[in-house]
Amino acid sequence: MLFRSLTAVFFFTLAFWGNSAEAIPRRKSSAATSTTTQATAQQQAAQISGGISTATDGSTILDQTVTVNDLNLRPKVSAPADQFTTLSGVTGAATKPNTTGVMGLNVLLHGDGGQSFFYFPNQAVQANLMGVVVLAPDPNLFWGGGSGLQRTDGVAHAQAVNDLILNAMPNVISFNSSQVFFTGVSGGSLLLSGFFIPAQMTNFKGTGVLLNCGGLVPQVTFQDADAVVASTTIHFQSTQSEPAPLQPAILSAIAAYENLATAAGLSIDRINALQTLNNAPKGGHCEFDGKGFSSGIQVMANAFSNVIQLGGNGQVNGIGDVLTGVVGNEKLTFSGAT
Ligand SMILES: *[C@@H]1O[C@H](CO)[C@@H](O)[C@H](O)[C@H]1NC(C)=O
Ligand SMILES: *[C@@H]1O[C@H](CO)[C@@H](O)[C@H](O)[C@H]1NC(C)=O
Repeated sequence: MLFRSLTAVFFFTLAFWGNSAEAIPRRKSSAATSTTTQATAQQQAAQISGGISTATDGSTILDQTVTVNDLNLRPKVSAPADQFTTLSGVTGAATKPNTTGVMGLNVLLHGDGGQSFFYFPNQAVQANLMGVVVLAPDPNLFWGGGSGLQRTDGVAHAQAVNDLILNAMPNVISFNSSQVFFTGVSGGSLLLSGFFIPAQMTNFKGTGVLLNCGGLVPQVTFQDADAVVASTTIHFQSTQSEPAPLQPAILSAIAAYENLATAAGLSIDRINALQTLNNAPKGGHCEFDGKGFSSGIQVMANAFSNVIQLGGNGQVNGIGDVLTGVVGNEKLTFSGAT
């Protein structure tokens, strides 16, 4: 059952940017009395139970559903056991709820269908950052809802992610809210660049955002724009053959963020230190290792600190140094489309 649920969810992910809607498996809801009811991706994900498990690096993973602003969010937190609070239920938990911790977070928002929520590529602690993934509160598991480049629930989802981190998560994990970084994958990158950075990043200044295989021009009023762009590293990583609709969206996002940095009065050197891009990998959507979606995202997750933490060497296994400054390099070219 578990395997079949996962398979169904992943098919959904891969079908989205293609044209094969019929590739989405039609699966009967186990609870349904009607034979025609089809479980949504969200309902399928709900069949995979949460709880406590062990991460690849020996950290403890807590997987819980939390209601924030009437939305059901499902964060998974991967952390050393002693960083969890005594309310968390984790064995070895040693901190008090709502207290500042000594480590930061790398919060990942998955692509359409939730694949990276299940694989949790950022679960290992890296450079003092604990990994978090959050399942989108949407029937299709699309961050920002809607579809394609139209993320109709982007405002509400960005607000919910902010409120989850600042108000709900401190109940179960102690972290330093001045060290909260973000990773987007595909649809998750659309939410981050289109909605979250402009509306919420004012609460997380001085950190960074890794935008994998997706980008959107800010869709809402940019709060505190000058201070946010002056203190946030942003890396745009794509491949040579991203889906056709995403390519111009990524280029427009790069130009928009660079323009904001220029308007904030940053020097070219400073902009190039903060905002970087690369699309060297020869692969399809998110295939940063030139081979596959999951394995491609994993190589970027493994290199998070090198790429996003200021002063990092930019090295990504199999790609090399990805930190090309945006100024003068805005017009990335792609070799094809998937
Ligand atoms: C939290 O992080 C900020 C920024 O790195 C740092 O200045 C501050 O000392 C940290 N607080 C604690 C309690 O570690
Ligand atoms: C922690 O803070 C949140 C939001 O401010 C509050 O709702 C919650 O009750 C607090 N938890 C504890 C255990 O004090």
